[in-house]
Amino acid sequence: MTLNLAVLISGSGSNLKAILNACEDQNFPAKVRVVISNKEDAKGLAHAADHKIPHHVVDHKNFATRDDFDNALHEILTTYPVDVICLAGFMRVLGATFISHWAGCILNIHPSLLPLYKGLHTHQRVIADGEKFSGCSVHFVTPGLDDGPVILQKTVPVLSDDTPEILAARILKEEHRAYPEALRLLAEGRVCFTPHGTVEIKN
Ligand code: GRF
Repeated sequence: MTLNLAVLISGSGSNLKAILNACEDQNFPAKVRVVISNKEDAKGLAHAADHKIPHHVVDHKNFATRDDFDNALHEILTTYPVDVICLAGFMRVLGATFISHWAGCILNIHPSLLPLYKGLHTHQRVIADGEKFSGCSVHFVTPGLDDGPVILQKTVPVLSDDTPEILAARILKEEHRAYPEALRLLAEGRVCFTPHGTVEIKN
């Protein structure tokens, strides 16, 4: 099965680029059908243009409420054949109504070993706490922030002289491997989101 993807971004879009590169392999079971950014200056939009992928800007500042923003996103998404929405450096919190409509079809990548270090300033907190390991998690999105069941994780060492920027760069390399791997597992039916809100792994 070829998964039809929508990728939502807010910034550099390095995870989008990793997904687009993976999709260039004819054997990769997914295709990006649309890219949407909430920031008109998101550098990631250039990746969509380079790959000739339809892309839109839905600026959250143009909407009176979060629900109005979510509804505008939803309207655009329904005009494409979307199976899975990939949040890739997308920095908006989506509302419960939007998430329930797309239940089990929204993935996110977070730069920590969830459920540890949800939220922002992940690397600073990991270093401040003296952690020896960190990493990234690809997870299904549920209404709780960075709270959905995890599909796949990659682990990296935290070195004594790490700065948040050095650690972020080490983890980002693993993110670019993790997202395509998680999408392949999903496309091949080897993971799925259960009605109980958990991940079922099928070998
Ligand atoms: C990444 O660390 C991602 O985990 C987080 O945003 C950062 C930037 O992602 N959500 P990208 O380069 O825009 O894909």
